[in-house]
Amino acid sequence: MPLRSRITGTGSYAPANILTNLDLEKKVDTSDEWITGRTGIKERRIVKGDTQTTSDLCLEASKRALQAADAKPGEIDLIIVATMSGDMPMPSTASLLQRKLHAKNAAAFDLNAACSGFLYGLSVADNFIKGGTFRKILLVGSEVMSKFIDWQDRSTCVLFGDGAGAVVLESARGPRGIVSTHLFSDGNLWDFICLPGGGSQYPPSHKTIKEKMHFIKMKGNETFKIAVRTLEKLVIDTLKKNNVKPSELAMLIPHQANLRIIKATAERLNLPMNKVAVNLDRYGNTSSASIPIALDEVVREGRIKKDDYILLEAFGAGLTWASALIKW
Ligand code: ACO
Repeated sequence: MPLRSRITGTGSYAPANILTNLDLEKKVDTSDEWITGRTGIKERRIVKGDTQTTSDLCLEASKRALQAADAKPGEIDLIIVATMSGDMPMPSTASLLQRKLHAKNAAAFDLNAACSGFLYGLSVADNFIKGGTFRKILLVGSEVMSKFIDWQDRSTCVLFGDGAGAVVLESARGPRGIVSTHLFSDGNLWDFICLPGGGSQYPPSHKTIKEKMHFIKMKGNETFKIAVRTLEKLVIDTLKKNNVKPSELAMLIPHQANLRIIKATAERLNLPMNKVAVNLDRYGNTSSASIPIALDEVVREGRIKKDDYILLEAFGAGLTWASALIKW
């Protein structure tokens, strides 16, 4: 029997405050029709003022995942937080979560692969478990994107939202669990999606603030075209490597950036949309949180059952892209 890592609990959380397309119509030159037609997004959750940080969102999602896994914080060996919008550059948001969760036996670190972060984290966690280093890992994708958005830039401010999703992974014998993970990057295209200010290249200064370098910049249309092409190949390759046919898939859980990208990937697999997790209409793009939030929703709705094959895929800044095949 192979040693695998199995997801034993999922949880998610999004701030209560809802920002609709109609609210955005009042802030920038946009329309509900444009946003819905081009992206599929209707509303997103946004933290109110300074009341909640990324680690606060992590905490709520983690509590729910731990409860679902029937696990105590003290049993966790490692916490990984996938994020590009952590509470602060140092210490890691994972360390802040460890404190808030009282997970006193856990090592903790953050991982940044932007929208692919959760799947990168899943791969790291899977390998730690399969290698025998850790037995129980808490993996969280959490973002407060709203603090890194230029609310006057209509090309980006309509796209993103805040939220967190978490899973507990445990070592288990047998075929059920993470079957394979696949990670890719092309750093030549780093400037397709970036947040240039605040690091060692452009430390915070009057200039970086004046030039709005602390906000997300995206070449949307160029990214869109590459994302569609890359994801279509990625999902086919992932299934081929595992000798699984698209018809054997119970569910596709894609990163929630754009409904048109999601539909193109589903079409390539010949999958009907009732086998595709879609929630970007309610949350927008929550970057590394989008897949674990969608996963938590389909699990709680009972849409996946034991032994089902599910395919997860993501594409984001880096550029990075990644997939995972899971036997549930
Ligand atoms: N409201 C109204 N008009 C708008 C808006 C808006 N909010 N934003 C842009 N427009 C206009 C543009 O100015 C442009 O006008 P023009 O033709 O007069 O120049 C027109 O709409 C078309 O703009 P495009 O950018 O070509 O529109 P597109 O169909 O490509 O949709 C979008 C834009 C939604 C951003 C799409 O390109 C997309 O989803 N890209 C991929 C995003 C993605 O997957 N990112 C990866 C993850 S993000 C991460 O990792 C952090």
